[in-house]
Amino acid sequence: MKKILVMASGNGSNFEAIVEYFRNKDVLIELLCNIEGANVISRAKRLGIKYFIVKFTDTYKFLKDKKYDLYVLAGYMRILPRNVLALGRFVNIHPSLLPEFRGLNALKRAYNSGCKVTGVTVHYVEEEVDTGEIIAARKCEIKQGMALCELESKIHQIEHNMYPKIIEEIL
Ligand code: GAR
Repeated sequence: MKKILVMASGNGSNFEAIVEYFRNKDVLIELLCNIEGANVISRAKRLGIKYFIVKFTDTYKFLKDKKYDLYVLAGYMRILPRNVLALGRFVNIHPSLLPEFRGLNALKRAYNSGCKVTGVTVHYVEEEVDTGEIIAARKCEIKQGMALCELESKIHQIEHNMYPKIIEEIL
C-alpha cells in the first residue's frame, strides 16, 4: 500500500477531493496541518483521516523518522527548507500558469492583471518558491465581466479534478 502525506494550512478543499478520489483505492492518506484550528482539520475529522498538527518549525523533527511515498502540498502556505525536502518527493499545486504569478495571492493577482487566461500548475517542490519541475498545467479562461469568486470556483474545480489523478500517476 502506498502512503501519502497531504500538507495543508487552510480550507482543505483539495485535501477533501484527494481523500474522496482515493476512497476504496489502495492508498493511505494522512494529513499534516501547521495551523491549529484550520478548517482542513475539521474535514479530516469528518472524513476519518489521521491528522497531525505540527508547527512549521517542528516539521523536520516530526517527519524525519516517518516514511511516505509522496508529500502532497495542498494549500500549505510555508516554504519548506532543504532538510525537509530531502526526505522524499514533494509536489505542490499552484493557482496560476507558472512561471507567471509565483507566490502568494496568485489567483487574485492574475485576476487583477487583466490577463485573459490563467490556470493551475502542479509541480515538484524545490527550495525556491514555485519553481520546481512542472508536472502538469491546465488553462482557465478569464471571461469578460467574470467576478473574482467565479474565477476562484472555476480554478478550484480544475484543481480538484486534476490533482488526485496526477498524484495517482506519480504513485
Ligand atoms: C489552492 O487554490 C492552491 O492552489 C493554493 O491554495 C489553495 C488551497 O485551497 N496554493 C497556493 O497558493 C500555494 N502557493 P484549499 O485549502 O481549499 O485546498
